[in-house]
Amino acid sequence: MSKQNITLTGITTTGTPHLGNYLGAIKPAIEASKAAGQYFYFLADYHALIKTQDADRVHQSTKEIAAAWLALGLDTDKAAFYRQSDIPEIPELTWFLTCVAAKGLMNRAHAYKDGVQKNLDAGEDPDSAINMGLFSYPILMAADILVFNATHVPVGRDQIQHIEMARDIAQRFNHLYGKHFNIPEAVIGKEGSVVKGLDGRKMSKSYDNTIPLFLGEKKLQKYINKIKTNLLEPGEPKDADDSAVFQLWSAFANEGQTQWMRDQFAEGIAWGEAKKQLFELIDTELQAPRALYMELLKAPDTIEEELQKGAEKARALARPLLDDLRNSVGIRPLG
Ligand code: TRP
Repeated sequence: MSKQNITLTGITTTGTPHLGNYLGAIKPAIEASKAAGQYFYFLADYHALIKTQDADRVHQSTKEIAAAWLALGLDTDKAAFYRQSDIPEIPELTWFLTCVAAKGLMNRAHAYKDGVQKNLDAGEDPDSAINMGLFSYPILMAADILVFNATHVPVGRDQIQHIEMARDIAQRFNHLYGKHFNIPEAVIGKEGSVVKGLDGRKMSKSYDNTIPLFLGEKKLQKYINKIKTNLLEPGEPKDADDSAVFQLWSAFANEGQTQWMRDQFAEGIAWGEAKKQLFELIDTELQAPRALYMELLKAPDTIEEELQKGAEKARALARPLLDDLRNSVGIRPLG
């Protein structure tokens, strides 16, 4: 009998969901969860605390991101959908893993190294303003993954190193205490699936170039009008592959629509017209979920209930695993 895949991924709750989150993570994850297998999707609010001490922002973001997944049709009977902080087994496992993880491994983590480099460039102490959460971030992430014995972890390229660290830590734990963990694999989205933001760079909160996912129509139109283009006039052929407008179009369009827009670019479609078409396409797809999203935000208890349902389901699996681990590391009743 072939082993079932266990797929798991998390989104850090520091911001408002944007089109990059939707196209790069949420939509493919919801699509994937229709196939056979076990699915764990969660709100990484403990991870959020590493990046911000703005409590209202963490709280609001948790609500918005949860509402987005639900509004977009995640089947929470099939997938476990939960908040990281509702699973006490995660911090419990984090400590077990912390005590087998090599400090030298953490020294090499990109997120931490970037922080040090920024300090050095600014002539500051290397560890200035760096908290231990940032340093240990990969261990918390390893616990997220290993606590459900995930086999497949869909992530962006920037997270590949963290999955490798999770594998490393899992192997070390297995070696010391017997085989408890599957060795998880990163699953990377299609090449070229990076969504471009308003300025043409990768759409990301850190670049302040995002288009929020659930804008009213007027605002969505306004954001789309802000996408950077060049000075080519109507009638002048335009390079589709170099354009954030075309790239977003193809992320929402089917094959036929993509080819059609490519032809329009070659024939010199005006930027204003291309953007109008793009607005229509996005609006058509997001109209219904947007209405649902707005309703959910007004009913946070409904969202909370869903998260509690998910936590219950998730803990039913995590608790026995942790009990087993406690026993293996020598933490057990004395009688
Ligand atoms: N660190 C991930 C990010 O910023 C979010 C995350 C937290 C995650 N825990 C995870 C992703 C576990 C996959 C698996 O994108």
